Amino acid sequence: MFLTRILGIVASFIYFARSSVADHSCPPDGPLLPRPMTLASQAEFKAAGTQLSHILDSVINDKIEAGFSVENTSFSISITTLDDRHGNPAWQYHHRGANNVKGTKNVDGDTQYLIGSISKVFTDLLLLKSGLNLDDPITKYLPELISNDSLINWKDISLRALGAHLGGIQGFYGYPEMSYTVPDFEQLGFPKLSDDDFPQCGVLGMSKGCNKKQLLAGLRDTAPVTTPGLRPAYSSISFVLLSYAMEAATGKNFTQYLGEQVIKPLHLPGTGASPGNDKKAAIPPIENSWGSDYGDNVPGGGLYSTTNDMSQFIRSILTHKILSQTEVNTWLKPLSTTPQLNTLVGMPWEIYRSNILTPDHPHTVDVYSKRGSAMGYEAYMGIIDQYGLGFTILTAGGFSEAATNLADTLIAILLPAAEKATRSEAQEYVGNFTSSKEHESAIITTMDNGPGLILSNLTRNGSNIVGAIKSLWASQPVPLGGLSETLRLYPAGVSRSIRVTECVNGKEQTKTQVEEEWRLQFDIVSGNEAPGKLPSTYLVAGACGTFQTPGLLVYGGEALDRIVFVKEHGKVVGVKVPSLRVEFDVRE
Ligand SMILES: *[C@@H]1O[C@H](CO)[C@@H](O)[C@H](O)[C@H]1NC(C)=O
Ligand SMILES: *[C@@H]1O[C@H](CO)[C@@H](O)[C@H](O)[C@H]1NC(C)=O
Ligand SMILES: *[C@@H]1O[C@H](CO)[C@@H](O)[C@H](O)[C@H]1NC(C)=O
Ligand SMILES: *[C@@H]1O[C@H](CO)[C@@H](O)[C@H](O)[C@H]1NC(C)=O
Ligand SMILES: *[C@@H]1O[C@H](CO)[C@@H](O)[C@H](O)[C@H]1NC(C)=O
Ligand SMILES: *[C@@H]1O[C@H](CO)[C@@H](O)[C@H](O)[C@H]1NC(C)=O
Repeated sequence: MFLTRILGIVASFIYFARSSVADHSCPPDGPLLPRPMTLASQAEFKAAGTQLSHILDSVINDKIEAGFSVENTSFSISITTLDDRHGNPAWQYHHRGANNVKGTKNVDGDTQYLIGSISKVFTDLLLLKSGLNLDDPITKYLPELISNDSLINWKDISLRALGAHLGGIQGFYGYPEMSYTVPDFEQLGFPKLSDDDFPQCGVLGMSKGCNKKQLLAGLRDTAPVTTPGLRPAYSSISFVLLSYAMEAATGKNFTQYLGEQVIKPLHLPGTGASPGNDKKAAIPPIENSWGSDYGDNVPGGGLYSTTNDMSQFIRSILTHKILSQTEVNTWLKPLSTTPQLNTLVGMPWEIYRSNILTPDHPHTVDVYSKRGSAMGYEAYMGIIDQYGLGFTILTAGGFSEAATNLADTLIAILLPAAEKATRSEAQEYVGNFTSSKEHESAIITTMDNGPGLILSNLTRNGSNIVGAIKSLWASQPVPLGGLSETLRLYPAGVSRSIRVTECVNGKEQTKTQVEEEWRLQFDIVSGNEAPGKLPSTYLVAGACGTFQTPGLLVYGGEALDRIVFVKEHGKVVGVKVPSLRVEFDVRE
């Protein structure tokens, strides 16, 4: 009875686990090898940087059509890696448009640009750092929103939903209405309105920016765009509400709180609420909003920054300095989907998934990005956590595609190089290790063009353990599906320092080692090739289910998939296989 129940549980998820036809089509999400710690100094990366510089030189010399006016556009681009210390981006490029005569004469890493909606990333970071319960409704902090007449059920809108465009509320209040477009509307057939019909604040050229009281009263009377949590509906005004909530909770206004929590600790002297410093700014010759006071709208789009500061900011996320590792892992996840399979939405990330960015070693890569616009300015930031990599593109004067076009160029050239550099650094884990205590015992790891490492051989006391794993897998009471021919190893993202005491020449000595957790992945390839005569989409049977396989084989409480690399001073000196109770401590 008991056994049947257990087998029933196993059987229920094994169907999902039948992942893939190809041998390793469903590796884990996230890093497939450790994030590179020497990326910036590797030849592949430097070559990519040189190539990018050449392309941008050609753009500026009009040899490549870039799709924007080179004379009218200034731009700054930086790439951030885990090893670019001392505040200098690993690579950067700057251009001052010949017509950009206002502002700074030298466009460099300290040049200030409006970053538009990238401000939302700062606001969400502040929210995460505030310690507020993100599941609390916004009405806990802004009870003024509660009204029997509102079409919006504000009590159902959480702080998290607002931070991820999931509140279902409108994007702006007042703006983008402008007094001088009213005649156009009338001429095009819209009815004549009286001033009272317009929002009483925030309409450009008609009324002043909204204060908190006006905004909350105004928003109460707006129509919902959708119901909370159903689908993302881009909303800048949500970030203003979040700043009010944080102010209610902390007693500090947005700029104060941002200064204290982010700008000061990370030392970002070129970042703040607009207006910035004219003398340090890139100011385009076209109509622009440099110098504007965004009032209460700063949290949604009113910050200015520099590529040096953005690089520092991105690095603090990648290195878990500004948030803990777990907080970053959670932050860099989607919260909703879009009808396009490659586009997801986070808090406030615009997430692009692709499996064509590293053509020589195809696998899924997520780019966590945020685009920002202000009049005359376009900006783009991206984080690719898998490679410990980020980039920032700030432009002044380009038309709307400048930043995104440059981002695509950068991604196309950078990611294949990042993949190669990651692989060459991971060669450290490739080797042949034996045991000083157990004879005829060895573990051999290798690498091919596929993901992760390969467990080529594992022997204990002369027994072939790779073969043993395969036969144990095949002889489970409930069939687990077909195991892939190749057993692959992936980093678990967990490590710890240990003190080890050893006897050298009769004397006890202690040293520090790092134990790094890895896991073998039981990648299930279709075990049952006979689909019968049922019509099938292969949707469920073909799903990626390998996340369900850790720990499916266990011996004496130790999972057979657990492998621990032992490192000293960054070098791999041994491998522990807990299920075998063997330490392979000799590197051949
Ligand atoms: C909403 O309606 C309820 C029940 O009719 C009433 O008790 C409450 O005072 C009203 N609240 C507001 C804010 O008008
Ligand atoms: C925020 O608070 C600081 C310190 O009290 C104050 O100087 C500043 O004017 C405030 N900013 C806004 C936008 O209210
Ligand atoms: C550059 O800006 C000027 C001033 O706004 C404008 O007249 C001109 O058309 C722009 N040039 C290009 C190539 O867009
Ligand atoms: C691994 O090391 C052992 C012991 O030196 C040796 O016998 C074996 O040939 C090595 N295997 C490979 C593949 O290098
Ligand atoms: C590694 O394993 C393969 C397959 O079991 C075997 O043919 C080969 O001899 C092994 N090599 C070593 C060095 O043990
Ligand atoms: C190693 O294998 C031999 C031969 O099968 C066996 O006699 C011996 O007990 C084994 N040693 C250990 C430590 O398992």
